Amino acid sequence: MSTVLIKGASLLGERTADVYVEGGLIREIGAVSTTADRVVDADGLVLLPGLVDLHTHLREPGREDAETVLTGSRAAAAGGFTAVLAMANTTPVTDTAEAAEHVYDLGQKIGLVDVRPVGAVTKGLAGEELAELGLMARSRAGVRVFSDDGRCVADARVMRRALEYVRAFGGVVSQHSQDPSLAPHTACCHEGELSGRLGLPGWPGVAEEVIVARDVMLARHTGSRLHVAHVSTAGSVEVVRWAKAQGIDVTAEVTPHHLLLTTDLLAGYDPVYKVNPPLRPAEDVEALREALLDGTVDAVATDHAPHARHDKEHAFVDAAFGMVGLETALPVVWTVLGEQLGWAGVARAMSATPARIAGLAGQGRPVEVGEPANLTLVDPVASITVDRDESLSLSRNNPWHGRTLTGRIVATLLRGTPTFGD
Ligand code: DOR
Repeated sequence: MSTVLIKGASLLGERTADVYVEGGLIREIGAVSTTADRVVDADGLVLLPGLVDLHTHLREPGREDAETVLTGSRAAAAGGFTAVLAMANTTPVTDTAEAAEHVYDLGQKIGLVDVRPVGAVTKGLAGEELAELGLMARSRAGVRVFSDDGRCVADARVMRRALEYVRAFGGVVSQHSQDPSLAPHTACCHEGELSGRLGLPGWPGVAEEVIVARDVMLARHTGSRLHVAHVSTAGSVEVVRWAKAQGIDVTAEVTPHHLLLTTDLLAGYDPVYKVNPPLRPAEDVEALREALLDGTVDAVATDHAPHARHDKEHAFVDAAFGMVGLETALPVVWTVLGEQLGWAGVARAMSATPARIAGLAGQGRPVEVGEPANLTLVDPVASITVDRDESLSLSRNNPWHGRTLTGRIVATLLRGTPTFGD
């Protein structure tokens, strides 16, 4: 059985100890005298539970020119992740048990992170007929999260049925909240003074807010679990806050880019900043930060959305939506909110809570004896200057290129096996 000894790590920034790992489990914490096959000097480093991403686009099958399960898994491990939820908007769409098992099996074979497929809510993401929700749930892939992400389940009746259906097996519907009559797919940036000046079709915040409001009422009516994907406006935060106060079973995620980048970056028409939902004004960013700090927003999720050059390097209106984010998620969060969140807050928002939302039993566990050794080692004071060409993702649509951030992932372990680091 292979053994690892992590020497002198700061556990969630709270206390310093050695951590001894054997057979994929944490066996001992304290002053450990046993030696191991691999010894890691973790002096000055923070040890966290492995990160869990609720929202990753791996693009395989269908768009292996943008990302594959292998390259996405490598990027995830480099970002400190030990599990990712792979979105369903692949080609073909993950809307059957076979399709879900295909992605799941690829992830298992590669073994760098636990890849858990998200199942589509509707067949072909068309928003009309429910996909094979029950069969996907019962499949080897054990799907628990369902989403038409990239598209909104706009029809209230379909959304209601999906919520009712997933309740039977403890599933959750993760909604891409975008009312298509208020923000059609051609809408490519936040609707406001700047979109008018740039002559770009706008995507108003209210198009998100009306769907969030409708869905929390559907969640209340059905008694089911709703998850709001990539929440982006202060108004949505208000609705989620209200819903939680009523005891409605709703959770929400925010992306690292919506915690830092603002709509004024679009002034140069650079498509790297084109994302859905769009970058919002500073007031929204501020509200999202507060919501993450007070727990209204439960989790950070990357919405890692790799795109091939020939899909992204276009005039702004024609370029694909999305930005990569697996490798920079933790440094962005730590740079923006580290002081207020602390490492315990980071572990909660990026590991424990997303694992709970997704129903991943062996992930997001505390760093304690007997737990699976899904671990991430971080240098909390190192600065990194992001270079998109050093990324392990296949795609280069990286909005952080050239930025300096604080916090560097030093190593990642999946059940005791190093998946990233020296
Ligand atoms: O920017 C985005 N890109 N937002 C989404 O919802 C979908 C994603 C993608 O698949 O590229």
